[in-house]
Amino acid sequence: MRYAQSPRRRVLGSLIVFLVIVTLHRLSGPAGLVGFGKHADRVQIACRIWPDWEGSSPAQLVYENIVTEQSPHAFVGDAAFIGKKDRCLLAVSRLNQYQSSLDRNWDKVRWGEVQKRCTAAKLGHSLPEKVEMFDVWQQPPKQAETKFSPKERGQTAVVLRTWSDYNYTDSRRVWLRTLITETSLHSSGDHEVFFLVNVKNNIDLEDRDTYDRALGEFVPEEFRDMALLYNSRKLEKWYPKVAEHGAQDQMYQALQIFSHQFPHFTHIWQLEMDLRLTGHVHTTLESATAFSLAQPRRNIWERNGRFYIPALHGNSYEAFAAAVDLDTGETGIWGPPQTTDFEPKGPKPPPRSHRNWGVDEDPDLISLMPMIDPIGTDWIYETEIHNFADGTATPRRAAFVSMTRSSWRLLQLVSEAQRERGQWLVSEATLETFALLHGLKAVSVPHPITFDNNMTAETVEADINRGPVHSKAGGRAPSFSYTTSGWVTGPWFKASYWFAADDAPNRWHGYLGGECMPPMLLHPVKDE
Ligand SMILES: *[C@@H]1O[C@H](CO)[C@@H](O)[C@H](O)[C@H]1NC(C)=O
Ligand SMILES: *[C@@H]1O[C@H](CO)[C@@H](O)[C@H](O)[C@H]1NC(C)=O
Repeated sequence: MRYAQSPRRRVLGSLIVFLVIVTLHRLSGPAGLVGFGKHADRVQIACRIWPDWEGSSPAQLVYENIVTEQSPHAFVGDAAFIGKKDRCLLAVSRLNQYQSSLDRNWDKVRWGEVQKRCTAAKLGHSLPEKVEMFDVWQQPPKQAETKFSPKERGQTAVVLRTWSDYNYTDSRRVWLRTLITETSLHSSGDHEVFFLVNVKNNIDLEDRDTYDRALGEFVPEEFRDMALLYNSRKLEKWYPKVAEHGAQDQMYQALQIFSHQFPHFTHIWQLEMDLRLTGHVHTTLESATAFSLAQPRRNIWERNGRFYIPALHGNSYEAFAAAVDLDTGETGIWGPPQTTDFEPKGPKPPPRSHRNWGVDEDPDLISLMPMIDPIGTDWIYETEIHNFADGTATPRRAAFVSMTRSSWRLLQLVSEAQRERGQWLVSEATLETFALLHGLKAVSVPHPITFDNNMTAETVEADINRGPVHSKAGGRAPSFSYTTSGWVTGPWFKASYWFAADDAPNRWHGYLGGECMPPMLLHPVKDE
């Protein structure tokens, strides 16, 4: 029985299969692996953690139908946009295989190498050179040369934001292994996962020995070859004209650098360590992308500006969109808004009569919360906008919880504006505002969020959708913001997804305990 194999036999077995793959590859080149099955089979084997271990493949996952009425809670959003809402992925089949055991020594896995092996097989390349991530990471910024035509979709990176004193406990490692496998290996290398590690002191990370010592100290061995370290010293060097380099307010600077150095990633998800997903990770991310792709640009900023509460629209997103159209009329945002001394780089908008503009266009920004107009909200960072000619009158958008998918193009536009003009806003408003000002497509995905049991669709609506037409989730002191006068009363502390929600860990523990749940994003789950 496979599980009864001794670790040594297993490792030896992996090594033999691996050498066979390498040898066949070398002998026959990528085009014709005679006698070794189809390309798909090769990729499947190369995308296993250990080539002789079939565990962790999508076939091992157990789904069940959700038989009961989905949930008594007033949902915002719809699970159908991030997966199959009537199916749950059972935690036990999914997570237990990644726990430490005598048979599987996770300390010996090199996740960077496994991911590279998988991608190489998919592309039909020979095994990659041992990429010196350090060298690429240290290269100085190139002169601005961003090509502004949209890139064909290439690989997608999933970047997890971690920090030097993050405690990689057993349960967190199990989650990270799950996430990497489901995202990167189950996609056969279309996605690749990285850690961006915020080092909290100002050591000289350009010095190789210092860097390696820090890497060894701050990142467990199994994740080391997929991790990149940075600190504020590096950010200050890249962005000397920006006055802020803190992790909270400039969360995207390190990502901007990442995107600049690894331009073959045309899109990048930035996710946080305390996010948990009850649905298969790749399915969730790709479903959110598919939803966004299909959205027309007409009144998209107005839809982005409010929460979708299905119960108020007969469970129809189309009905919700029609309600937004009715509210907005022909006054919606269409192309870049007027500003002074700012050159929009997005496509020139067609006449307003082109109602399907943007359908099938891959967006430059996907957000997981509404993008509201921060002007007049009393949000604590409302007036934080620097070196724009129109100052605080500059049209802007912001989304709380800085988890997004952004394009290489958008990140480079932000990077160049920060480097050359010192133009900046805080994290929550950075990508959203630059996407707006450049006339790029940006989409908020209405994934499901639960609140306290006693809420109804109407009470939720009254609490969270009470702003003006173009920004209904905004308005003065929206309850999901932190304002100049502090927290605002509202349902968010009992939400499943927010920046300070209390309820996300309870839902995650229910899921781990066997509860059948639709695909959901839970945040923050700070369990150790
Ligand atoms: C990390 O978490 C474990 C488990 O909760 C705990 O025992 C340990 O003390 C923590 N380590 C640090 C450095 O906080
Ligand atoms: C629901 O319960 C919370 C306390 O958990 C309370 O603050 C809130 O006012 C209640 N809402 C309604 C509509 O009863």
